[in-house]
Amino acid sequence: MNSFIINADITPNTINKNIYGHFSEHLGRCIYEGLWVGEDSEIPNTQGVRNDVIQALQQINIPVLRWPGGCFADEYHWKDGVGPRSQRKRMVNTHWGGVVENNHFGTHEFMMLCEQLGAEPYICGNVGSGTVQEMSEWVEYLTFDGESPMADWRRENGRDAPWSLTYFGVGNENWGCGGNMRPQYYADLYKQYQTYVRNYGKNQIYKIAGGPNVDDFYWTEVLMREASDYMDGLSLHYYTFPGDFWEGKGSAVDFTESEWKLTLSRAWHMDQLIQKHATIMDKYDPEKRVGLIVDEWGTWFDVEPGTNPGFLYQQNTIRDALVAGTTLNIFNNHSDRIHMANIAQTVNVLQAMILTEGSDMLLTPTYHVFEMYKVHQDADLLQVGSEVETITCGESSFDKVSISASKSKGGVIHISLCNLHHTQGAAADLDVRGFTVSRVSGRILAGSNMNDRNTFEDKERVKPELFTDFERTQEKIHVQLPPMAVVMLSIG
Ligand code: AHR
Repeated sequence: MNSFIINADITPNTINKNIYGHFSEHLGRCIYEGLWVGEDSEIPNTQGVRNDVIQALQQINIPVLRWPGGCFADEYHWKDGVGPRSQRKRMVNTHWGGVVENNHFGTHEFMMLCEQLGAEPYICGNVGSGTVQEMSEWVEYLTFDGESPMADWRRENGRDAPWSLTYFGVGNENWGCGGNMRPQYYADLYKQYQTYVRNYGKNQIYKIAGGPNVDDFYWTEVLMREASDYMDGLSLHYYTFPGDFWEGKGSAVDFTESEWKLTLSRAWHMDQLIQKHATIMDKYDPEKRVGLIVDEWGTWFDVEPGTNPGFLYQQNTIRDALVAGTTLNIFNNHSDRIHMANIAQTVNVLQAMILTEGSDMLLTPTYHVFEMYKVHQDADLLQVGSEVETITCGESSFDKVSISASKSKGGVIHISLCNLHHTQGAAADLDVRGFTVSRVSGRILAGSNMNDRNTFEDKERVKPELFTDFERTQEKIHVQLPPMAVVMLSIG
């Protein structure tokens, strides 16, 4: 039995909606084909952005979208991606498959995509191979309203008014593909580059420094010690896979029970990582002004057989849904420090929301989790006390049931529960205190096989259904979760 006390009158903080953010890189078929098909495409589009994908993404309320990378960001030169498309410079995307990047999707197209999505842009600048001037001029081009070389050039390129831009990253993975730097060296460069990322007019930039890889706590220590006064956010990257990063991460669809457990135990590892990085951040920033920005997370499996290894195309099963549900619960529960997170990557790459094949598309189980969880966006986090069963995984174990709870501005309580066991159900008692429960309803996303997924032949195999397997007594709500299930309860 699993027991939870939900304190509806203890609301430690608001869950920043940006925790439900996304990341789209110039990688494989994410931007080209997935989001952008161009105005001349036979695939229905609005100014080059495909309508079917945008309409589906609008349903999950993407609050913020990170672009253009990833590793691509540190070799992207934004000036090559503005002006008439036919005259834009072609380049080689050396990180991702060595394909030709024609720069048809650039700054104007990205800002237009964000407008169509109703998402805020989060642009990642180039430190690894770019200059201070180039970064500074990008912000001027985007946000300056007066007369200046960059603002005038923007107008020549068809955009009169400046855009509003809040989130700006100063490089990506500067410990790796973004320049292979030491933290001391990057901290100095960060301070130099960010100096020239200016606030023009009323536009205020929220500056995000390149943070640690996984458990590189030393990187966090140095960045916070040397540069926390100059940043608003520090990024963290952590991907989930059962295997070995270089030797083989494991298949997305063809996996064993022990790989199931290992994947979910590694998803839970996010909780430990956040606690440890946050402890270091607390030392230098006890007020929690600086956000920990998990701007790359999600599953990373071996590519689908027969696809370009540099395109990172993988299928998505109910296992991915449970990784997403568990991770989002972890983020909600740490939303005092986690101010934004961006799952990698929106379409056709890694743990995608949507897969496309020509003019066809499907919604993945992960998409459905984001759709179910959108009720947590900007809601007040509720304190939850838990007593839970565990699942053994090798020498260690992890919680069988993951939970988070929030209260919306309209006063509705939402409780998201994930049963991570692949064969056993989970009974859960929910004791909601400080609230008079008058009605309860639920939705569920569940699988019957560990690798249940949506395919182009069977697009609705995994989709949310009505959930009724709960019972109300005067004191509690008794819930019976089936195996491999994500449930969202709404309590009014
Ligand atoms: O998301 C794929 C890649 O993973 C990104 O480009 C990079 O930042 C990370 O290593």
